[in-house]
Amino acid sequence: MSELLDPFSNAQAVARYAEGPPRLVPGFAGLHRMTTILLAERTPRDAHVLVLGAGGGLELKALAEAHPGWTFVGVDPAAEMLKLAERTLGSLASRARLHQGYIDDAPEGPFDAATCLLTLHFVALAERRRTLTEVRRRLKPGAPFVAAHSSFPQGEGERALWLSRYAAFAVASGVEPDKTESARAAVEAHLNILTPEQDEAILREAGFSDVSLFYAGFTFRGWVAYA
Ligand SMILES: C[S@@+](CC[C@H](N)C(=O)[O-])C[C@H]1O[C@@H](n2cnc3c(N)ncnc32)[C@H](O)[C@@H]1O
Repeated sequence: MSELLDPFSNAQAVARYAEGPPRLVPGFAGLHRMTTILLAERTPRDAHVLVLGAGGGLELKALAEAHPGWTFVGVDPAAEMLKLAERTLGSLASRARLHQGYIDDAPEGPFDAATCLLTLHFVALAERRRTLTEVRRRLKPGAPFVAAHSSFPQGEGERALWLSRYAAFAVASGVEPDKTESARAAVEAHLNILTPEQDEAILREAGFSDVSLFYAGFTFRGWVAYA
């Protein structure tokens, strides 16, 4: 697979990973702050938090800094991204156990909260439903779950329009136009993007309740839901 298709296995691409999300995802730092607040609303001070797609460690670091009593299990199939998570966490790494793999490789918990940020758009529909069911099964009853990823209208003309806004945001954030064009092409060809309505339906089918949209930034949406 090329770096474009599997950037999470390529050491050079991973070394630059942390530059990407703030330039591609509108309000990326705010997304972490909102996620922290939503989890904290319904978790104890010593919460044990499952972070699915934890590679890179950016949300692990944000959550760990905001809540010194929280501990984490991070799960991700990409070894290079997990190595980067360790480096990103630095001295906070002692509060996170990192597992290489998928949701089935995560401990059973039960956890007090869970997140899955910028990850589910890599997972095809049936597997996404199963993944979410397995996340919910690992949570205590009523525990909060935050998911955020690409999710936007897919109707005729709408998909191209939103992808052009995604690309324009990247260019306005300082990404070189040719790199933006290849990123947009990769997103268009390889991500499993659903509509916001489909994303909400899958969360409910997986057994989550009170599904609420809390974040929308061009092509990205985020929800909080409860086990
Ligand atoms: C764009 S990165 C997001 C990483 C991190 N959550 C963040 O927001 O910076 C997507 C991550 O999802 C991981 N990933 C892909 N498919 C996955 C799956 N089925 N389960 C868990 N993680 C997955 C990739 O290896 C990669 O590290």
